[in-house]
Amino acid sequence: MRVGVVGCGAIGTEICDAIDHGVLGKERGMELKFLIDKHPERIEKLIKRLKRRPEITRTGSEGLTEILEEVDLVIECASQDAVREFVIPALHAGKEVMIMSVGALISDEGLLDEIVDIAKEKGCRVYIPSGAIAGIDGLKSGAIGGIHSVELTTRKPPRGFEGNAYVKERGIDLSMIESEKTLFVGPAKEAVRYFPENVNVAASLSIAGIGPDATKVKVVADPSATENIHEIHAIGEFGKLMVRVENVPSPTNPKTSHLAALSAIATLKGIIYPVRVGT
Ligand SMILES: NC(=O)c1ccc[n+]([C@@H]2O[C@H](COP(=O)([O-])OP(=O)(O)OC[C@H]3O[C@@H](n4cnc5c(N)ncnc54)[C@H](O)[C@@H]3O)[C@@H](O)[C@H]2O)c1
Repeated sequence: MRVGVVGCGAIGTEICDAIDHGVLGKERGMELKFLIDKHPERIEKLIKRLKRRPEITRTGSEGLTEILEEVDLVIECASQDAVREFVIPALHAGKEVMIMSVGALISDEGLLDEIVDIAKEKGCRVYIPSGAIAGIDGLKSGAIGGIHSVELTTRKPPRGFEGNAYVKERGIDLSMIESEKTLFVGPAKEAVRYFPENVNVAASLSIAGIGPDATKVKVVADPSATENIHEIHAIGEFGKLMVRVENVPSPTNPKTSHLAALSAIATLKGIIYPVRVGT
């Protein structure tokens, strides 16, 4: 399987490591063909780690049609904007896609339906890894029988919200937070808009469960937290589901949990391995 990666940051780097010299290597079925990042220095930094330099690098979507011919799968691990920019053309070209910036699928009205329609027409698969949470399997199963409520509480150290526009607009000085502070309470649909880099998991939960309006989200900045903690409470016909994941933040991007990159790699492994375990 020939792969193109969009986004050479924390997640993209771990995925490329796994393809180049880890569990997904060429002998196991995956080969890295192109890398895209709007910052060329990030592409170069990533390439320095690799044993095999990918043939194609780009800093944007110009000439995308030609390079899409070189791959079977496009992995988006860049930003919400990048989903429309790269995933839609990849699907039109009949390629499989994996999406990490899941928030785009509920904050960009109509995008998910558009993706589903093109994927159906072209016979392509769209992979959305569980990311930084566990419990998607139970939620998907529970949704078949009916789910009444889903609540997510995301708790991160204040530095995990650095540069966030919603926090800035409310005049919150992250460096002055001395005890836990609730930054947001509301539906997942709004949470992904205000915290595009922090609560992709709210989008994944919404898609697997009861949708972005009914899924409730609380976002907390907690100076005593050393991990990115996600707690999920769901109630349905099946009973109750409670999951708490205490994530080690990525060393290069504290907004991102290490488990998110591992989840992407596990999803890729699932594509090339014939046995699928879990729902
Ligand atoms: N699904 C999940 O659970 C989950 C968890 C963590 C992060 N994420 C999301 O995955 C994405 C990647 O996360 P990360 O930690 O690797 O981020 P990162 O900031 O470390 O890296 C992203 C890279 O993509 C590049 N980029 C962004 N937009 C681009 C565009 N339009 N065109 C080309 N390059 C672009 C940036 O320059 C950067 O190098 C983010 O959107 C993040 O919010 C999802």
